[in-house]
Amino acid sequence: MLDAQLEELRRSTLAAFSAAYSLDELEEARIEALGRKGTLAQISKQVGKLSPEERIRIGKLLNSVKEDLETEYEAKKVRFEEANLSDRLSREWIDVTLPANGIRPGKLHPITQLQEEIEELFSSLGFAILYGPEVETEEHNFDALNIPPTHPARDMQDTFWLSDGHLLRTHTSPVQVRGMRQLGAPLRMIAPGRVFRNEEVDASHEHTFYQLEGMMVDRDVSVANLIYFMKTLLSSIFKRDVTVRLRPGYFPFVEPGFELDIRCLICDGAGCAVCKQSGWVELLPCGLVHPNVLRMSGIDPDEWGGFAFGLGLTRLAMMRYGIDDIRQLQAGDLRFLCQF
Ligand code: DAH
Repeated sequence: MLDAQLEELRRSTLAAFSAAYSLDELEEARIEALGRKGTLAQISKQVGKLSPEERIRIGKLLNSVKEDLETEYEAKKVRFEEANLSDRLSREWIDVTLPANGIRPGKLHPITQLQEEIEELFSSLGFAILYGPEVETEEHNFDALNIPPTHPARDMQDTFWLSDGHLLRTHTSPVQVRGMRQLGAPLRMIAPGRVFRNEEVDASHEHTFYQLEGMMVDRDVSVANLIYFMKTLLSSIFKRDVTVRLRPGYFPFVEPGFELDIRCLICDGAGCAVCKQSGWVELLPCGLVHPNVLRMSGIDPDEWGGFAFGLGLTRLAMMRYGIDDIRQLQAGDLRFLCQF
């Protein structure tokens, strides 16, 4: 009877080995037949009960079944391992002769590059760099800049109004107010940052753009100081001497207020398409700080004076790099951005 069981074990286990599709399945079949609690172990427990002659006969058969199964198991296992390896090798090859992909390190946005350059310049001239909040109060954005509720200048700014007297700042000038109130006089500060206007977007208008505000408050500050700092700034940005001129301009927070023009860098003043044949390019508004503005921020206008300017960072970046569509600056298109 044990003969039959052993022959059946040999047959069924060899069949299981040959049907195994993976190392796991092979191992499972081995344990079932040859494991410590496997079929073979159970059969061999019964060998002790047999007569001495039968014991020898069955014992031999048992050993031969065991050997056969172990041999077949080992052989199949090696085949599996080899197949596994060659399979992996055929899947995971690399062509070491291919050129490398190339590493593209991140870069700063062209506006950020320009901003950092100007920050560095003004730091070296003793100016503090302040960053005001983008969500401002109406008071900082308008009232404290001498723009009362009824003033027509409020209409000039297309404002994104928020609830309870807040708004998205329409210019960086409110940081002047924060600077004066926080630091007092004398004061040298610049304030770069994002500003927002509720405008129809086209090639030259964005709802979001960048300005850089500058302010100096001291004793005896004059238009000559203003011109000196502006010439220094612009020569440094354009990396050559620039000629500037002031035209009167109106902003409620400066008196007198100016539009500063530079002699056209393309045609040197001869007249070209960029300067619309005038020889001059309008670049930045500026002026001497209005006494009301100083007073509202706790600075005595009889003792102190100041100048202020508002540089259009976005516009300057466009001029410097010859970008003709403002929308590209915020589109996040790597093909555009990688050029800078
Ligand atoms: N804040 C003004 C604007 O965005 C620009 C400006 C004009 C800033 C004159 C100044 C200044 O500091 O003196 O339209």
